[in-house]
Amino acid sequence: SIGPDAIIPIFNREIAPDGYLRPSTLAWGTFPGPVIRANKGDELKLAVVDLLDETSLDLATSIHWHGLFQKTTNYDDGPAFVTQCPIVPREYFIYDFKVPGQAGTFWYHSHFKNQYCDGLRGALIISDPNDPQKHLYDVDDDTTVITLADWYHYLSPNAPVVPTFNSSLINGKGRYPGGPSNVSLAIVNVQRGTRYRFRLVSISCDPSFTFSIDGHQMTVIEVEGTNVKPLLIDSLEIFAGQRYSVVVTANQPVSNYWIRSIGKSAAVTTNFSDFNSLAVLHYAGAPNQNPTVDPTTNIPVSQYPLVETNLHPLAPTTVPGSPVPGGADININLNVVVNFTTVQFEVNGVAFEPPSVPVLLQILSGAQKASDLLPKGSIYGLDLGKSVELTIPGGAVGGPHPVHLHGHNFHVVRSAGNSTYNFNDPVIRDVVSIGLAGDDVTIRFMTDNPGPWFFHCHIDWHLNAGFAVVFAEDVPDVKAQVNPPQAWENLCPRYNNFIDNN
Ligand code: C2O
Repeated sequence: SIGPDAIIPIFNREIAPDGYLRPSTLAWGTFPGPVIRANKGDELKLAVVDLLDETSLDLATSIHWHGLFQKTTNYDDGPAFVTQCPIVPREYFIYDFKVPGQAGTFWYHSHFKNQYCDGLRGALIISDPNDPQKHLYDVDDDTTVITLADWYHYLSPNAPVVPTFNSSLINGKGRYPGGPSNVSLAIVNVQRGTRYRFRLVSISCDPSFTFSIDGHQMTVIEVEGTNVKPLLIDSLEIFAGQRYSVVVTANQPVSNYWIRSIGKSAAVTTNFSDFNSLAVLHYAGAPNQNPTVDPTTNIPVSQYPLVETNLHPLAPTTVPGSPVPGGADININLNVVVNFTTVQFEVNGVAFEPPSVPVLLQILSGAQKASDLLPKGSIYGLDLGKSVELTIPGGAVGGPHPVHLHGHNFHVVRSAGNSTYNFNDPVIRDVVSIGLAGDDVTIRFMTDNPGPWFFHCHIDWHLNAGFAVVFAEDVPDVKAQVNPPQAWENLCPRYNNFIDNN
């Protein structure tokens, strides 16, 4: 892992995490990228150096620190053409921001085209030495991070219209159907009798994963940076971009147990259960070998799957706005359809196309009103200090779609698969899965963070196909509160120059 003050070189390398060799775009040359660790309140100084070459097809880059609010540092948020121009080859940019008041399980990924699907993704953990919930897991360690990823046998610029993953990986290891069966699987080491906090991070470009550990229950204690009331489960479905902390007690006989992650592509209902990805929970003292249980014939039946409406914040919380549907200051409905002529997603009739000038730069250059900002039809202005309710009807083609809001987390007052509202103690998170037909999802948040914030489907292929809008929050105050350094100002001239010469 690397600390809060680090250099992150981005370069191309051929890797074969599932036994199939392909070129990749990686942070520090590994998949997933190194875990970045910091403490609550730290200043993070992450120098991203672009060393990419032609093998990647996408030569520029930009990194998003997923889940961090970036208050007053909107220019460090990362999404290309929303808050910055991409970094070009042989240049670097230092993301320099603080994380006041935030702790928990986050991640980072490229936010340039579909580049993170080529490998540029990893976990980001912010610890809180004074965590009020520490008693639930401090008997042992908090060092285990488990990333769940999809993996492809082609570069993202060569992806078909409906990409499907070739394998799924746990901590960067896995196998693909028909591939070599001797590829090693990830090992999670435990000692009998101790309790662990596992940080579970979906770094997926597309599928959701159903995660479980044979013979072990899990207690959910954190969801995307918010501590929750302990909830005992034996499996959970985690969507692209979501995170959980679970406490697992190594209380079973000393042995090896399957860790399972069954991927379900949103695009195609491919059933991956007969070659779901596997890792090994290894008890100290057990033989160094895979579990003897045949993983394909002994699939445990879940008794206590995670239900989103059973998650409640540990600390008392206040949902912004009045406790009735449509009871926020600003109520927005986002209808999502697929336009089969253009093969793009449209949100309220408009497919998001990245503008050539980043939205933040448009604002800093003098745009005063959200309606003056490009791309037309994709920018929603929000005034400061307002409660906002967003409703996203379920059932859009290619779903379920996990949607993510930058710059905020939000209360999920109505979850997919549940028609009742919870205005009391709903889960707070930053990615929520909108459901299938008939499931409408409603979220609430307060506007307290000036700047343009991306809101999009976290199935990265869908984002690139237009499933996004930008909330231009408190535009009149952006200039006074968000002051990018000179290096940020230089990104666009350098990018435009690079494009002109290539
Ligand atoms: Cu994790 Cu806009 O992304």
